[in-house]
Amino acid sequence: MILAEFHDGLGVVALVGRVKVQVRSEEFADQGMIHAVHVASFPTKREADLVDTLRVAGNLSISLVAVDECGAVVGHVAFSPVTVAGATAGVGMAPVAVLAECRCQGIAAELIRRGLALCQEAGHGFVVVLGDPAYYSRFGFAPAADWSLSDEYGGGSAFQAIEFKPGSIPATGGVVRYAPEFAALGD
Ligand SMILES: CC(C)(COP(=O)(O)OP(=O)(O)OC[C@H]1O[C@@H](n2cnc3c(N)ncnc32)[C@H](O)[C@@H]1OP(=O)(O)O)[C@@H](O)C(=O)NCCC(=O)NCCS
Repeated sequence: MILAEFHDGLGVVALVGRVKVQVRSEEFADQGMIHAVHVASFPTKREADLVDTLRVAGNLSISLVAVDECGAVVGHVAFSPVTVAGATAGVGMAPVAVLAECRCQGIAAELIRRGLALCQEAGHGFVVVLGDPAYYSRFGFAPAADWSLSDEYGGGSAFQAIEFKPGSIPATGGVVRYAPEFAALGD
């Protein structure tokens, strides 16, 4: 839960739980720290490498960081284009990570809420995510199966979607395909 929000000349700063963080778009100097956050947060460095390869490929549609008062990146969320029936109309949210020592203070929630708002502002029709419905449903995600969507990874009920603009998701549904850089995740 956000306890306070104010502007300090750098952008919106949210006092989230115990840690005061600024949520903003990634900058060049953040790249190494973003990599480190994902290396520290996942069992392997595949998610960290994924973010790097998405960036190089020009497929980081939206990339937000949570930065502490010392300028250190403590959390990150990425959005990249997805296709349904060969047409790009939406984005996938992945990966999202917050350093272990900063968790359960609403930092990921703030990254996700800001990210979703930016996706909507940018005109992306829908967002998909693969994750625990108990967590992601609080942001408005619903089972992607409600739109007859499925994913390439057999995510089942963990595959969820938000449709910002009715009709953005093809009425016939289909298989949602992530950017090619995700293929390396399965190696
Ligand atoms: C998932 C993660 C980003 C949450 O970050 P956070 O800043 O602690 O999240 P918030 O403070 O907004 O929310 C905390 C909630 O997330 C839940 N949560 C923690 N890890 C979770 C996970 N892997 N899946 C689902 N929910 C999770 C907590 O139980 C807590 O639930 P509650 O609000 O009902 O008590 C963080 O735990 C993390 O980096 N995990 C490792 C990487 C990962 O699994 N990322 C998600 C898949 S891409």
